[in-house]
Amino acid sequence: MLLVTGTTGLNGSAVVHELAHEGVAVRALVRDLAKARQAPVPSTVELVEGDMLCPDTLGPALDGVERVLLISTANERMVETQTTFIDAARRAGVEHVIKFSGRATDAPSGFRFAHMHAEIEEYLRSSGMRWTMLRPSAFMQVYFREVPSMTGEGVLNLPMGDASIAPVDVADIAKVASALLQGKGEADRRYEMSGPESLTMDQVAETVSSVIGKPVRYVAADPAAKREALLKAGLSPFFADALDELFAERRRGCAEAVVDSSTHEAFGVRPTTFAEFVRKHEAVFRGEAQPSNLWAAGWLPSGR
Ligand SMILES: NC(=O)c1ccc[n+]([C@@H]2O[C@H](COP(=O)([O-])OP(=O)(O)OC[C@H]3O[C@@H](n4cnc5c(N)ncnc54)[C@H](OP(=O)(O)O)[C@@H]3O)[C@@H](O)[C@H]2O)c1
Repeated sequence: MLLVTGTTGLNGSAVVHELAHEGVAVRALVRDLAKARQAPVPSTVELVEGDMLCPDTLGPALDGVERVLLISTANERMVETQTTFIDAARRAGVEHVIKFSGRATDAPSGFRFAHMHAEIEEYLRSSGMRWTMLRPSAFMQVYFREVPSMTGEGVLNLPMGDASIAPVDVADIAKVASALLQGKGEADRRYEMSGPESLTMDQVAETVSSVIGKPVRYVAADPAAKREALLKAGLSPFFADALDELFAERRRGCAEAVVDSSTHEAFGVRPTTFAEFVRKHEAVFRGEAQPSNLWAAGWLPSGR
């Protein structure tokens, strides 16, 4: 049996639907069955309730499982959530854990989630189970957050200076994660994954502008003002500070700026360009549709 966690989220839902598309049966761990059933659930998917922070709830989800894809929310409790789950998986006899991580998380970084991923990766490596680290760069889907200001004011407003990053489409990541879950690729290794181009924010704005046919220009935001705006918009101080660290890393130049297509090549996945991604989700970038998790990942018919 294969188990995917984080399945009400962006990547977990994309992986479950990729497996279903390939006709592979999978079990999906969810904290709340009712919430999970709000989205279409393919018939090959077995939903099982459990909380990764509460090992006592995980028995049915882990029963008979050979390989797991481990994803959870980037938050204050990410290390506790994932290490608790790793312990439960080992006790239940799981053979192999594929950890959804971040780009080059072993490199020195001032970004708190990079440290957390590094700590979890180390914990998993010493667990005695087989491991694989899937390390994507920034998701193309994060630009959905910028749609209101791009369509409203014609402005992409980020504190990125003239830095570039090579974002990757979640749909590409899902294809690799699906292959890894099915035992393809090598165990006990790290798979770095970026999109096919390293783009400045000017280039991101130009691409969106040319697809939606409206002017969009990049304005380099002041980092402190951006943090204030995020707090005003309701982000927690913890997450606003995390983004502040991330933007600072990017302005300094970080691994996310470097194109690495080795994982796409190893698994025969054609890297989606940013222009293809924007065209695929044109209605969202025009502000005419809301991205749901599934839709954002490209799995509902309108996104495929
Ligand atoms: N944003 C980026 O560009 C980027 C790039 C590379 C890596 N990452 C990493 O990607 C990961 C997040 O992936 P995502 O964006 O696909 O996730 P997401 O959309 O934030 O969804 C997180 C999922 O984890 C589940 N979850 C959280 N705590 C749980 C618990 N205690 N028990 C069971 N399920 C739990 C959530 O379930 P509920 O619905 O019940 O809350 C949800 O399904 C993070 O580790 C982040 O560091 C992000």
